[in-house]
Amino acid sequence: MSTAKEKFDVCVVGGAGHVGAPLSIVLAQKGCRTLIYDISKPALQTLAAGNLPFLEEGGEPMLREVLAAGTLGFSSNPADIRGIPHLILTVGTPVDEFHNPVLHALTDCMDTLLPYLSDEQTVILRSTVFPGVTDFLDGYLKARGRRPLLAFCPERVVQGKAIKESQSLVQMVSGTTPAAEESAARLFAKVARKIVRMKPMEAEFAKLFCNAYRYVQFAVANQFYMLADSAGLDYARIRQGLMEDYPRMRDLPGAGFAAGPCLFKDTLQLVAFSENKFNLAVSAVQVNEGLPAYITSRLKEKYPLKEMTVGLLGMAFKADSDDARSSLSYKLKKHLTLHAKTVLTTDPLVTGDRELLALPEVVRRSDVLILCTPHSAYANLDLQGKPVYDIWNFFKE
Ligand SMILES: NC(=O)c1ccc[n+]([C@@H]2O[C@H](COP(=O)([O-])OP(=O)(O)OC[C@H]3O[C@@H](n4cnc5c(N)ncnc54)[C@H](O)[C@@H]3O)[C@@H](O)[C@H]2O)c1
Repeated sequence: MSTAKEKFDVCVVGGAGHVGAPLSIVLAQKGCRTLIYDISKPALQTLAAGNLPFLEEGGEPMLREVLAAGTLGFSSNPADIRGIPHLILTVGTPVDEFHNPVLHALTDCMDTLLPYLSDEQTVILRSTVFPGVTDFLDGYLKARGRRPLLAFCPERVVQGKAIKESQSLVQMVSGTTPAAEESAARLFAKVARKIVRMKPMEAEFAKLFCNAYRYVQFAVANQFYMLADSAGLDYARIRQGLMEDYPRMRDLPGAGFAAGPCLFKDTLQLVAFSENKFNLAVSAVQVNEGLPAYITSRLKEKYPLKEMTVGLLGMAFKADSDDARSSLSYKLKKHLTLHAKTVLTTDPLVTGDRELLALPEVVRRSDVLILCTPHSAYANLDLQGKPVYDIWNFFKE
């Protein structure tokens, strides 16, 4: 698919994804003629039809606005990146089964673009990367005879609110040369409220620190939850009491599943960078990833689970999202499959999981329910008197 006949100011590579699509739409709305280049033709077709492939607050109206204005184009042909002044890379940067970063996702992408890349272009890396990857990529390109300006400008928005936050947050900008930094800063000044300049490795660390810090914070809350719960106490009540008019503790999160496509993976990138000496993060992984097993064992203590049907409410990795990537709901489902008679699952937003059932059926057929994802749609839910394990304290609030 290619609609790239006109001239573009910027191309977002991987632009049909969760990071790329909202950024492309905002850039196009700011008047930058933006080309979305992506290998996923179905996602490009969805976008070209004015729909987003995933939930994004305020995304679809703005998408339709820029389609009507003619400032957004689509392509799955790498040759179409030729001559576009700014290329922003937002392809996925996963970790492998041993939790090490997978560099070839980026190098494979660059290999495809290389024949069409010139030294006059600015390449802006926006995917979250292992510290040192920007410099690595610089060497990788030079070794192949290409010297584009190379920048690293990480994304820090909350998934689902990228349209708003990409314009309201401060954008970290770094470049391998002053010219690269300046070129990237000029582009992001059109979008972000404020620019802060850093060196590439500082910005790489900064992004990973943001996610690892959040992940460790959630682990602290989940550890506190397990300590209180094991003592027969209600963590939510303790938290409420200790936070009352006590600003120093205002950052203490509630308990709940902490996972998804970024926090866990990015914390592991820092663990890998530290050669497994980032022990605090390793402990956080044990706590957060251990929560499904904890819940299963608490339920086993309370109920004859082997004779019971358990219903899981919410399979997305976080509330009001349709994204089930790395969701702990699925880890809990796996645990319970071994320990309960039947496990039923439901979610109002997740699509593409053929085992999901309608909410009323799950509530009706289950002996016990577990609130995995506190979607707003579950507010005022009639639980039909069924016991519910609610780590989030959602139904009490
Ligand atoms: N999801 C978030 O909220 C978030 C926030 C901050 C940073 N990040 C980082 O941004 C990056 C992208 O994450 P995402 O959630 O948007 O991933 P995603 O899977 O939703 O999007 C990636 C897109 O890249 C496309 N793609 C893959 N390989 C390609 C290639 N070689 N050429 C062209 N297109 C290609 C895919 O088809 C997909 O549309 C990751 O590094 C992630 O860690 C994500």
